[in-house]
Amino acid sequence: MARNCLIVLGIETSCDETGVAVYDTAHDGRARPGAEGLRAHAVYSQIALHAEYGGVVPELASRDHVRKLLPLVRQTLAEAGLSTRDLDGVAYTAGPGLVGALLVGAGVARALAWALEIPAIAVHHMEGHLLAPLLEDPELKPPFVALLVSGGHTQLVAVEAMGQYRLLGETLDDAAGEAFDKTAKLMGLPYPGGPQLAKLAELGTPGRFKFARPMTDRPGLDFSFSGLKTQVLLAWKASDQGERTRADIARGFEDAVVDTLAIKCGRALDAAGCETLVVAGGVGANRRLREKLQAMARARGGQVRFPRPALCTDNGAMIAFAGALRLEAGQHEDAAVHVTPRWDMATLPAM
Ligand code: KG4
Ligand code: ZN
Repeated sequence: MARNCLIVLGIETSCDETGVAVYDTAHDGRARPGAEGLRAHAVYSQIALHAEYGGVVPELASRDHVRKLLPLVRQTLAEAGLSTRDLDGVAYTAGPGLVGALLVGAGVARALAWALEIPAIAVHHMEGHLLAPLLEDPELKPPFVALLVSGGHTQLVAVEAMGQYRLLGETLDDAAGEAFDKTAKLMGLPYPGGPQLAKLAELGTPGRFKFARPMTDRPGLDFSFSGLKTQVLLAWKASDQGERTRADIARGFEDAVVDTLAIKCGRALDAAGCETLVVAGGVGANRRLREKLQAMARARGGQVRFPRPALCTDNGAMIAFAGALRLEAGQHEDAAVHVTPRWDMATLPAM
């Protein structure tokens, strides 16, 4: 039976961030304005652990989640002024992601739910990202088009109703965040390069380096970013490789990605016949992307919504929120610890 008021613990361990949050549906602003539903959230980033390898090492990621998860659960509950006995449910990321890392979160979440005799709910990581803009914006409701731009995914999704997702387009090769990270790496920036490249681009001269806007010269909503990375490599190798040039190339690259995403978002809104765009995932923290999409939406008379930057990148809040909605709809898991490293969001049940 669906419950009205729930306090839900959210656990995210799909990749290189341990995220924990407590979400309370009694105070989430859907009953009254103001989004106080997020009682506490904490993220522990493993960036320093993986930096020397230039990318995420899955086994190290799993071991670090083992070390950090329970202390983070205790810390988050203490910040919320709650004990485990106050919880009505536990939500955890069950995929997509690194299987060992996912199993840490799933194992802890299931064990907690078992011991407390409360339901557990498996959350799709990308649904978590996709619903994050609704977490602090109770007025925002489907139908809308979502642009999901993370390190692993670049997708345009038509959200027809809560839990009903139709894929409009996706990347055929690199994800947008992956393109940022690889481009940063080839110009010698440390891991994780995306945010560093974006910072450097702020200092760059627009227009000195002009790269293609891939796949915008033909109809369709799919993306391809791997050729862009090659263009940058060629430009970088042929250049003086000085600081100024690096910033100018970073700016040229960022403008190419941002323009491409904006063009496809406009087309996706046309295809879906709606005027609300929701942006989520790590690249959604990019300042220039936010500005460009805002201008695009304004010019069409539509609107674009983003989570605050801290809720664009991986976090437990989005998992607690998505899990709370599914628990409210009466859904939960059986007692098995089960993860789905590859998971198609279109197969999720409606809620
Ligand atoms: O959603 P997320 O935290 O993790 C995944 O689920 O992948 O996204 C991480 C990705 C990384 O590729 C990172 O470089 C990128 O988001 N990213 C950014 C920015 N902040 C994070 N890319 C461009 N500009 C940023 N400000
Ligand atoms: Zn993510």
